[in-house]
Amino acid sequence: MEIKSKLILGDCSEELRKLEDNSIDLIVTSPPYADARKKVYGGIHPDDYVEWFLPISEQLLRVLKPTGTFILNIKERVVNGERHTYVLELIMKMREQGWLWTEEFIWHKKNAYPGKWPNRFRDAWERLLQFNKQKKFKMFQETVMVPMGDWAKTRLKRLSERDRIRDESKVNSGFGKNISNWIGREMAYPTNVLHMATECSNKNHSAVFPEALPEWFIKLFTEEGDWVLDPFMGSGTTIRVAQRLHRNSVGIELNKEYFDLVYKTTQSVILNLFETDSSDSELKQKLKPFLLNT
Ligand SMILES: C[S@@+](CC[C@H](N)C(=O)[O-])C[C@H]1O[C@@H](n2cnc3c(N)ncnc32)[C@H](O)[C@@H]1O
Repeated sequence: MEIKSKLILGDCSEELRKLEDNSIDLIVTSPPYADARKKVYGGIHPDDYVEWFLPISEQLLRVLKPTGTFILNIKERVVNGERHTYVLELIMKMREQGWLWTEEFIWHKKNAYPGKWPNRFRDAWERLLQFNKQKKFKMFQETVMVPMGDWAKTRLKRLSERDRIRDESKVNSGFGKNISNWIGREMAYPTNVLHMATECSNKNHSAVFPEALPEWFIKLFTEEGDWVLDPFMGSGTTIRVAQRLHRNSVGIELNKEYFDLVYKTTQSVILNLFETDSSDSELKQKLKPFLLNT
């Protein structure tokens, strides 16, 4: 299978306009944090964040296929001693824009560094907001199943009579949980909390997310040959994982240094997809359609 990676150097608010309508199956991205790391790559002030992001999410809505999914990794900053509300405001505005706020996953950072603050504890989680264009979207739940684990040994052994009958729940929701159905099974569906360590070393970028993060969503929401977009590509984590999982990808990055880094590292991954007995110039020819840099 031929896999394409389109790497674009530029501002995603401009570059996204050049992508086709309804052409992307999954967007996974982590935009710059509000005001944080300003010296590293130009943060946005928390008060301006919603206004800054909305034209970008408008373009994302346009390029996403109706069956596609948008995963937004974001976490509100503490400003003047309280959590700023720009993420909550952004969710409301994106709903007005036409997005459905389908789900919220929590990324629990297993290796949050120790610290002491006067009025709060160390921050060990970030939001992964899921947005869709319609209620019915592509989802392959079996691809992210997890071992049943200890829960099965303890809780399932002590099933009460109530657990054994279909529990239509007191609110009459119609969704029985029928826990006894899971007896004897090895695997279960995961929760919406993802326990993953951060991975910043050896990436030459200060704000990477772990490969396991885009990997989980790419497996859950796409199939081989689908298109994955990261409009804030950074060190290219999403692009590398998409390539490894045989998905086509588009990455946009403003910073030339980061862009060059991704260009080099993803090029070597693409090389591995070919038989490597050809000369350099032959390889370059082969690579041409895969590296459409602007
Ligand atoms: C939080 S980092 C993304 C890290 C990425 N998830 C990774 O694993 O490496 C955000 C990135 O967005 C880039 N960026 C900031 N504003 C941008 C814009 N308007 N268009 C494209 N990229 C932008 C920054 O240079 C930075 O590399």
